[in-house]
Amino acid sequence: MKDKTRVKGNIHYVGVNDRQKHLFENLWPLPNGVSYNSYLIDDEKVALVDTVDVCYFEVFLRKIRNIIGDRPIDYLIINHMEPDHSGSIRLIKYYYPDITIVGNRQTFGMVEGFYGVTGNRYVVNDGDTLELGEYKLSFYLTPMVHWPETMMTYCEEEEVLFSGDAFGCFGALGGGFIDAAINTDMYWEEMVRYYSNIVGKYGNPVQKALAKLSGVPVSAICSAHGPVWTGDNIERVISIYAKLSCYDGDEGVVVVYGSMYGNTEQMAEAIAAELSAQGVKNVIVHNVSKSHSSYILADIFKYRGLIVGCTTYNAQLYPEMEALLSKISGRDMKNRCFGYFGSFCWAGAAVKKIAEFAEKSKFELVGQPVEMKQAMKEETYSQCEALAGAMAEKLKTYNL
Ligand code: FEO
Repeated sequence: MKDKTRVKGNIHYVGVNDRQKHLFENLWPLPNGVSYNSYLIDDEKVALVDTVDVCYFEVFLRKIRNIIGDRPIDYLIINHMEPDHSGSIRLIKYYYPDITIVGNRQTFGMVEGFYGVTGNRYVVNDGDTLELGEYKLSFYLTPMVHWPETMMTYCEEEEVLFSGDAFGCFGALGGGFIDAAINTDMYWEEMVRYYSNIVGKYGNPVQKALAKLSGVPVSAICSAHGPVWTGDNIERVISIYAKLSCYDGDEGVVVVYGSMYGNTEQMAEAIAAELSAQGVKNVIVHNVSKSHSSYILADIFKYRGLIVGCTTYNAQLYPEMEALLSKISGRDMKNRCFGYFGSFCWAGAAVKKIAEFAEKSKFELVGQPVEMKQAMKEETYSQCEALAGAMAEKLKTYNL
């Protein structure tokens, strides 16, 4: 039984799968579910790394008891306090009242604030250690990856890194949990979507964490979501996080439009067709009213070019576009080549509002914005093609 849960040595997987929730954080779609990963270290002293969403506590407790029976858990290590991981703290404390909670100075206010849990605590600073017997754990504080209290835990003897949200992805686990034993195809796209939706604002903290961990030998990354990463995949997941966290996009353009009756949509079509004619292979077009922003954001993180446009609505931006631009702003996106377009019936506002967004952004403005009254004319086609042409030319300068 224990072999089924073993990650390495005395480290076991005791996480759970959630295939019921529709929206992670009540925001982001979960078509493939999500896993809440927790790990149990069965040493002379027993340590639990993070917990799971409280809805799954009973199955979580059963998994723990299958490994340690009636032995107590000595330490609960809290790498991250977001309730998808901390949700079972109160019940763990109820079942194991003598447990010592391990966290940093930022952790314990949240433990008390969310769960009213006090009692034995072991407060760690960066580089502090905890002896379990055969294993010694070290702690790396990684604030803002993804909350201020975030930290990582490292087991030197097994070279296992418990990384919290970092290197995680959406997608429940189909039976196995180690990458080498499962088909991991779907998790790569889900990693980009997870990063861009959840961690995307915190590029600098992620970069700092990567720098802090560079040189640390790692044979397994035990993230809080998705598979345990081993072998060549370790370098692959680290390079994905390194690339996304410095907002480094591949060659390609995301075109996002908001249109009520199809006229503004034709502006987007003309732009996309010209981009393709100019040799841009990755042209991703999203109807902002149909594609969930979760997927649009993932594509914006993937590609260097971004062109957005919408109709005017009640003398404002089209609402779905306004919501998307707010989500882009909230992620401190950088290093994007940006173009825009818009339309109106009797009084223009969309282009003016997108210009305000562009002014505040850290994007490089490309081409002349296009504004259309009511419907496409020959002049509008030419203007859209000129905007697309300017974007295609700009992208070429990154590939020289
Ligand atoms: Fe998976 Fe930031 O929680």
